[in-house]
Amino acid sequence: MTSTGTAVRPSWEQLPARLRDGLADRLGRVEGVQVQTGGFTPGLAARLQLADGDRVFVKGIDAGHPLAGRYTDEARVTRALPAAVPAPKLRWDARIAGWLVLAFDDAGGRHADLAPGSPDVAAVVETVAGLAAALTPCPVPDVPDAGIELADFVHGWRELAAGPDLPADAWVRRNLDLLADAETAWLQAADGATLLHGDINRSNLLITEAGEAGGVVLVDWGQPVRGAAWIDVADLIPHLILAGHTPAAAEDAVAGALAAALREAGAGPEMVTGYAAGFAGYWARTSRLLDPPGVPHLRGHQARAARAAAAWVAHRTGWA
Ligand SMILES: Nc1ncnc2c1ncn2[C@@H]1O[C@H](COP(=O)(O)OP(=O)(O)O)[C@@H](O)[C@H]1O
Ligand SMILES: [Mg+2]
Repeated sequence: MTSTGTAVRPSWEQLPARLRDGLADRLGRVEGVQVQTGGFTPGLAARLQLADGDRVFVKGIDAGHPLAGRYTDEARVTRALPAAVPAPKLRWDARIAGWLVLAFDDAGGRHADLAPGSPDVAAVVETVAGLAAALTPCPVPDVPDAGIELADFVHGWRELAAGPDLPADAWVRRNLDLLADAETAWLQAADGATLLHGDINRSNLLITEAGEAGGVVLVDWGQPVRGAAWIDVADLIPHLILAGHTPAAAEDAVAGALAAALREAGAGPEMVTGYAAGFAGYWARTSRLLDPPGVPHLRGHQARAARAAAAWVAHRTGWA
């Protein structure tokens, strides 16, 4: 499988022996292991070939890890997804040797190619845009509201403008006050009744041979929020830019889907501009933080994403 090669994950041999034994008790003998390097989580993520010919995808993390809550959320969300949502089926989740482990059907396939000209782009847009039909009203209880959850982290320019170390980028410096003003205005259009995936990016989009909507499968439902459906659609844009689209071409690729989702929410296009500013700020702010333990590639990715999102804002605003 092609992978984005960003996560540093434990190999099979590095897992605690008790965990491997516990997995073998449930799955039977494991004959092949393909550790998956997409994403940034330092947890286990591996496709396993089992002795009986079956294949399974397992992910897991030490229950004491700060990210463990995401795995619990992912289990309860994935279990509640309607059949119309193209996501691998959760077979079971369990606590094994102090780890939280989730076992899914192995989706196979490869990461979506979001580069200009790739046929995956239209299929991915169609799939993401189609999620709301199956996920409204939100089928999972106790999912945090987007207006609260995202307000917590989707911002950054205000802090950077107040800090001692102004961003180096000349366009950002010239427009820092405008960016800081724009980055929270979209929150008034964030709430809604749809279960959002909340982490739409290439590493969570698989293209399989079969399946519906061009074989697009969406994995990693560990950061759910309840909100307006335009947010998941808009999330594609910076990732299309990161994959080589110009901001104009990235917007073109999602234009119909985004306009429909905005109409549905009664939100104007300026909400997307604010959201773009918020995500650019989030990435710019977090790219400066220290590496989390065991996650060496995250900050570099965030710096690239900040540049992509700033280009997106520049395109939408025309700010010189
Ligand atoms: N059900 C699955 N079948 C096959 N591969 C998968 C499956 N789920 C995830 N993957 C692969 O494993 C990688 C990491 O899984 P993911 O659920 O995104 O974990 P993380 O929370 O660590 O990002 C994904 O980028 C994808 O390549
Ligand atoms: Mg992931």
